[in-house]
Amino acid sequence: MPIKIRAMKPSDKLGIMEILKVTEAFTTEEVNVAEEVIDAYLADIHGSGYYIYVAESAGHILGYLCYGPTPMTQGTWDYYWMATAPEHRGKGIGSTLLKLAEQTVREADGRMILIETSSNPHYSPARNLYHSLGYEIISTIPDFYSVGDDKITFRKTL
Ligand SMILES: CC(C)(COP(=O)(O)OP(=O)(O)OC[C@H]1O[C@@H](n2cnc3c(N)ncnc32)[C@H](O)[C@@H]1OP(=O)(O)O)[C@@H](O)C(=O)NCCC(=O)NCCS
Repeated sequence: MPIKIRAMKPSDKLGIMEILKVTEAFTTEEVNVAEEVIDAYLADIHGSGYYIYVAESAGHILGYLCYGPTPMTQGTWDYYWMATAPEHRGKGIGSTLLKLAEQTVREADGRMILIETSSNPHYSPARNLYHSLGYEIISTIPDFYSVGDDKITFRKTL
């Protein structure tokens, strides 16, 4: 079945939550925060400041990306959350979602996109993907999340 990328609707929440819960990189606390963001988006889809896109095939959610303009900036955007169902990774879903989001940021006159991530090995596929799409590391805060787990910020200027 073809994979369709589209804006999230309320009935997609269950599918996204299933992906978040089986994603080994995410702690329970992180899954809870991701759910709060989804709920904020669903409560006011056009005014929440969040954009959520899903990859869907035959009614199943295979991946999602949440991003939005960074509050109190002009033209800076942040990618907040992204995950692909483990059995569907490596098929281009993540890069398709990121490229589509990039296009919408360009159309909204965005100047740069930032992504904060961790140096933890769980995030190495994500870091490789950001590199391959032209994102550069612009800062590293050692021991930010915990001792030995740095915060890494990637940036792409548009
Ligand atoms: C990061 C993540 C979302 C990437 O999703 P994905 O759907 O696997 O992404 P892609 O398939 O587009 O890219 C992954 C790799 O597969 C390769 N790939 C792309 N299309 C492919 C295809 N058609 N066939 C085989 N491999 C392919 C890409 O080369 C890419 O490798 P690269 O980064 O070295 O270029 C996924 O690994 C994930 O959910 N990780 C856990 C959560 C996480 O880290 N989230 C991000 C931080 S919040």
